[in-house]
Amino acid sequence: MIFTVLTLFPRIFESPLDESLIKKAQEKGLLRFHIINIRDFAFDVHRTCDDAPYGGGPGMVMKVEPIHQAMEHVERELGRPRYILLTPHGRIFNEETARRLAQSPHVALICGRYEGVDERVLSLVDDEISIGDYVLSGGETAALVVIDAIARHVPGVLGNEASPVDESFKDGLLEYPQYTRPPSFMGMEVPEVLLSGNHEEIRKWRRKQSLQRTLLRRPDLMERFAATTEDRKLMREILEEIPE
Ligand code: 6GU
Repeated sequence: MIFTVLTLFPRIFESPLDESLIKKAQEKGLLRFHIINIRDFAFDVHRTCDDAPYGGGPGMVMKVEPIHQAMEHVERELGRPRYILLTPHGRIFNEETARRLAQSPHVALICGRYEGVDERVLSLVDDEISIGDYVLSGGETAALVVIDAIARHVPGVLGNEASPVDESFKDGLLEYPQYTRPPSFMGMEVPEVLLSGNHEEIRKWRRKQSLQRTLLRRPDLMERFAATTEDRKLMREILEEIPE
């Protein structure tokens, strides 16, 4: 899969894409990155990429022409990608969107600055994405989040081909608690069942923990959750354990 990034700050992408999982995926030939400096496609003497807003007001607005020129360049080299503008006005990014975008052979992420992008850029893109309800100074850090989440769905990137992504988010529940050695730390014990070697009991305990965590911390996720007969039994147990 190819990721193209159009940005005014290409250096932001240097070290994050050169570490760990993403680095290995590039070495394996599973992912390719093209980081493009929008400024290289501004052709006036000052290579201007932003300008004052029409109608007045604070801040600067990213100009449409350099972005358009950069897009034409991408298309000449690699064909038309799926274009995504990163902006706080976009649809909120989630695991389902990550999975869907991983099906695309080439995604181009356009990083807007927070003051804004000329509205006419919207007519050039396929999607607008936000990563949450808070303001970032630019789309670059959001692009890194989106790249990471998508890359995990590209076959082979996680190494273990059999389990593409956290089982948890796949069926819409939060992950169960994890422990490693030592079994006792400052009086805090690893749950007995995890040391028991009884795999069926461990599986049930984990499922129940996932359900309990999701019910307590993210009840909103339960709306889209399809409970099995076992899940319903475990949820009844959770409710019965609530003290008076
Ligand atoms: Cl994609 N961009 C900016 N500037 N702020 C954001 C965002 C994106 N997502 C959440 N906040």
